[in-house]
Amino acid sequence: MVTIAVTGEDASEPRVAVSPETVKKLIALGCAVKVAAGAGLRSRFSDAQYRDAGATIAGAASEALAGADILLRVRRPSVADVKSLMSGAMVMAMLDPYSDRAGIEALAATGASTFAMEFMPRITRAQSMDVLSSQANLAGYKAVVDAASMFDQAMPMMMTAAGTVPAARAFIMGVGVAGLQAIATARRMGAIVTATDVRPATKEQVASLGAKFIAVEDEEFKQAQTAAGYAKPMSPEYQAKQAELVASHLKTQDIVITTALIPGRPAPRLITRAMVDSMKPGAVIVDLAAERGGNCELTQADKVVDHNGVRIWGPLNLAGTVPVNASSLYAKNLLAFIEPMFDKKDKSLKINWDDETVKGTLVTRDGKVVHASLQKQGA
Ligand code: NAI
Repeated sequence: MVTIAVTGEDASEPRVAVSPETVKKLIALGCAVKVAAGAGLRSRFSDAQYRDAGATIAGAASEALAGADILLRVRRPSVADVKSLMSGAMVMAMLDPYSDRAGIEALAATGASTFAMEFMPRITRAQSMDVLSSQANLAGYKAVVDAASMFDQAMPMMMTAAGTVPAARAFIMGVGVAGLQAIATARRMGAIVTATDVRPATKEQVASLGAKFIAVEDEEFKQAQTAAGYAKPMSPEYQAKQAELVASHLKTQDIVITTALIPGRPAPRLITRAMVDSMKPGAVIVDLAAERGGNCELTQADKVVDHNGVRIWGPLNLAGTVPVNASSLYAKNLLAFIEPMFDKKDKSLKINWDDETVKGTLVTRDGKVVHASLQKQGA
């Protein structure tokens, strides 16, 4: 029987990799599930709920890990924890594979097969396994909620006997999964919403959510989307034109949510100090790209910076601030990834290593770093 271990995360990570609902389904696949005591508490999943779902509660992490074939995590586990698993075990987590190369080499040396869930290919079949989407959607929502609570004014227009409260103006920069949800949330709260991106496909999406699209739509813009659906780094000429457009637009905005990212690279710099200087005091910027250096020059990770009355908030784990939903969805993503690895008849693991979702996420196997995008980096 395949044994799955789930351990608690670090103090900075409130999410957990299984929910009582997914524990039940993992057990139906033929697995035994061991959850370390208290692992789900910050996501409001009690040990009793896991036990009722069929899991064994392990008193300590070491007890959950010992003899396990699969370790499910939100963040990258320690090398020591991976060494405690069965030899050649599998680990599924958001491994953050581009940072700390030495750490990835050390994971490889354990002989474990490790899967980086954030590498899931953006194919239709894998939508239910897509952790970036499930978490970014929540982050986009929470960014607007945070901005609204920091803002000294109301969001919607209100016509009262004492006078009219004007609607806030919100500008969303980067219209991927997080940006789309930010647009929808800001609209629901009554803001006047504009949005920008470099991928032409976003123009229609922005309009369909009732927001206004603003972008430099030149020849380069028409080619800005890669086959994988991501943005390309833009030329210095394009960036200069984009900066000019953004600079004039920012002067009138109350709330700015930035979400622009390019996979495997530092976040593109879209808002300079001079642009912040020109913004209205009281304006709020929430920079979802803070973890990758920020879209705004003044962003500091995990801090609120007050620059002449413009506040810039650089959260590192917004999905983690709605852990109940974030964990439930992340756990379902993991379940959807694991399910096809099991033979339904004899309830055993039969992994197709050539499957696009397996190959696309596999980072280490048989002692080596095997993912194509990490090979290119050398080392
Ligand atoms: P992301 O997190 O990599 O980037 C966020 C946004 O920033 C993207 O829309 C990107 O175009 C934009 N951006 C990058 N550089 C920029 C710049 N200089 N100025 C302005 N904006 C810039 O993107 P995310 O959210 O991961 O989505 C990427 C694509 O994948 C989207 O087309 C999305 O619809 C698609 N997707 C497909 C899925 C599937 O088919 N399974 C699942 C999820 C997303």
